[in-house]
Amino acid sequence: MSYKAFVFDAYGTLFDVHSAVSRHAVLVGKNSARLSEIWRNKQLEYTWTRSGMGNYKDFWTLTTEALDFALEFVPDVNQDARDQLLEAYKTLDCYSEVPAVLKALKEQGYLTAILSNGSPDMLNSAIESAGLSNVLDDAFSVHDVGVFKTNSATYSMITKAYDIDPSQVSFQSSNRWDAAAASNFGFDVCWINRTNQPDEYKDMPPKRVISDLNGLLD
Ligand code: LAC
Repeated sequence: MSYKAFVFDAYGTLFDVHSAVSRHAVLVGKNSARLSEIWRNKQLEYTWTRSGMGNYKDFWTLTTEALDFALEFVPDVNQDARDQLLEAYKTLDCYSEVPAVLKALKEQGYLTAILSNGSPDMLNSAIESAGLSNVLDDAFSVHDVGVFKTNSATYSMITKAYDIDPSQVSFQSSNRWDAAAASNFGFDVCWINRTNQPDEYKDMPPKRVISDLNGLLD
């Protein structure tokens, strides 16, 4: 393979989006896992809704709006957890293998980057708190093009910035819809199927499927 860059989705791929609620599970109450699911699902739904109509609002605002919906929607959750959950979202845990895999890829001479819906501030804070600053060359935020994935303008941020062909990019995402769009764009896609999900978007398959990032080094 002749890749120049390994590019990663951020939320769900490098960072565990459920770690914010996990940290405050006792405070949130017995439906904390359900709250976290609804929070994530609504956050993503808002990006697709807005991109479809060309009405962009930054990802941090959508993350806040999604949490407010989830807190109202899920029964028996402690509304007072709101501010602590939002703070925790700025410093999500990364998955345990992430630092070593990124370091190894960099040592092999590849560019390593994030391409994420995340707003620049929230991405930078997550990268720093997870200790990934030294193993990433760049963090590209769709904020710079004012539209969310799956719009092709987001994926072309990479090919434009590095002046490379899509086939020279190995793109990793745990989000199957993101993997589908990246594959449709022309990237070589590796779907990180962390939770053993059934396949979908079968006309836009990934090149490879692995259960965590360690598989990139095989
Ligand atoms: C991202 C979302 C899709 O990081 O997880 O772009």
